[in-house]
Formats: sequence, structure tokens, C-alpha cells
Amino acid sequence: MISVRQLHPLFFAEIRGADLKAEPTEDLRSAVEAAMEQYNGCVVRQGQITDEEHIRFARLFGPLELPPGYSTRPRGRMAPELFFAGNLDPDGNIKPLTPANQNIAKGAERFHADSSFNPLPSKWSMLRGVECPPSEVGGDTLFVDLRAAYDDLPQETKDRIDGMTGIHDFWRGRAYAGLEVTEEMKAAMPMPPVHHPLVRTTPSGRKAVFVGGHCVGVVGLSDEEGHALVEQLYDHVTQPKYVYRHKWVEGDIVIWDNRFALHAATPLETDQYRRDMRRATINESGEEIDSYEYRRRQQETAA
Ligand code: OGA
Ligand code: MN
Repeated sequence: MISVRQLHPLFFAEIRGADLKAEPTEDLRSAVEAAMEQYNGCVVRQGQITDEEHIRFARLFGPLELPPGYSTRPRGRMAPELFFAGNLDPDGNIKPLTPANQNIAKGAERFHADSSFNPLPSKWSMLRGVECPPSEVGGDTLFVDLRAAYDDLPQETKDRIDGMTGIHDFWRGRAYAGLEVTEEMKAAMPMPPVHHPLVRTTPSGRKAVFVGGHCVGVVGLSDEEGHALVEQLYDHVTQPKYVYRHKWVEGDIVIWDNRFALHAATPLETDQYRRDMRRATINESGEEIDSYEYRRRQQETAA
């Protein structure tokens, strides 16, 4: 029996009674879809599963978005279809604190929607806590409900942003957040900006204000004015009343909707505590591809 219990006054629920080690059933799929539509984020509490079981579960809801460089990734301790969000090297040892590692960690501490900077139609992420430090030392994950935040906007702001288009730019977002961005980094991973509506609508018709760390401006406004507007919206949506804080239990699979929720990592002394977090990210539709490869093919067809 699958049971669903709300965890925060506005959103997020806990799903119990799902057995992800068994062949998934239509009941499981529809219960999770319904819970996600209602709560925007869910934790499936059910104990440790394998990468293959994680991937099989994710594929019930859409095609995987594969990590950059997927086709040339070696099959190591983690399935290459998953993104790694922890602090271990491929042999499973804690990575040293280098400026580059710290830079990546700091980026995830700003609220964001995964992959909003790439041209694939993102749907959900599913992050699995394989090894989690005790919450007291850090490593919780925060979520905000962009639907509730939209509802509370003054009517004047709703009228102003209705129909506006947000600009999502990975490198500019990092620069605005005060993180190091060099010409070499950009040249190694060119990521032209993409557009999303500033107001998105859920399948059941709720509206959400779609900003986050990668959203740097608004089409038709000057850089300065657009940046000021999205920062003002960012400050609104990240107020504590819209935040759910997830304290990890090992084995948890936390699912969030990247279209209507943002998330952020919290600090951890990453050279002291092991954290092994693996993420499947799915798109609404399309083939299973890495966004990098997708971009490359788009450029080829355009040329
Ligand atoms: C992610 C992410 C936050 C965390 O996996 O996309 O942002 O707490 N993770 O690990
Ligand atoms: Mn993320």
C-alpha cells in the first residue's frame, strides 16, 4: 500500500510503501505522478536500491537526460546514466578541497532548477542519498515552491511579468553569483543562453514564477533592468516561508519538478564528511541524450 503524507504547509510529501526493488507497477507510476502534481516534490522512503533500480524508476516518467560526455564515460562505481552530486572521486575517496571543487559546490548552494540553461525540455530530477552525513554537520537540501511564491505576488507584479520571457545563461548566472568564470571555462563548455517563460503553468493550471540561479535577465529589457527584475523575484521566492529543508535518510529518493520548484545545496565541510549523491534527471519528451551532444547536433543542423 502506497501512502502519501505532506511534509510542509505548502508542498512536498513523503511517499511510503513503494518497493523500487520490484518491477514497477502502473499503480506506483500513477501514484507518484499524482503526488508530484499536487506536492511539487516528494521523498520516496524505502531503503537502499541499486543504480539500475533508480534508473528503471526514473524512466517511468520520461526519457533520461544523460550527463555531459555520457557516451565516453567509463563504467565505474556509478552507472554513467546518473549525475554525481557528492564529494567522492571515481574510486570512492573524498576529493580534496581544490578551488575548482569548491566552485562547483558553491554553485549548487544558489537556488536553481537543474538544466534550465540547456535546450532540452526538463521535467524532474530524482536525487538518491547513497551516503549522507548527519544533518548536524551539513548537507541538507533546500526546496522552494514556485507556485506558492507566484500566488503571493502583488497583482501589479503578476500583470507586469505575465508573458515575459526569462533568459537562462549558465556562465552569466555563475558570474552574477560571484563564482569564477574564465574564458577557458567558457571555451571548453560553450553554453549559449536559452529562453523560458517567466511564468509557467502546471498541468492542472497553477502558475509558477520561473526564476533561479541560471535565470539572468528578461527578453526585451536591458541587461541591467532584466537582472534587477529576476533578482527581485529570486529574493521573493526564496523567503523562508516557501522553503522545505530536506534532512536525508540514506536510501531516500527525493524527486522535484524542475519546472515549478527550485532547490539548493547547503554547506558541508566536504573534505571531512563523505557524501555520495546520485541523480537521475528526466525530460518531458525526446530522445535520451546528453545536452551537450544535443547542442552540438543543433549547431550542425543550423550550419
Ligand atoms: C543536484 C543538486 C543538491 C544537493 O543534484 O542537482 O543541486 O544537496 N543537489 O546535493
Ligand atoms: Mn541541482
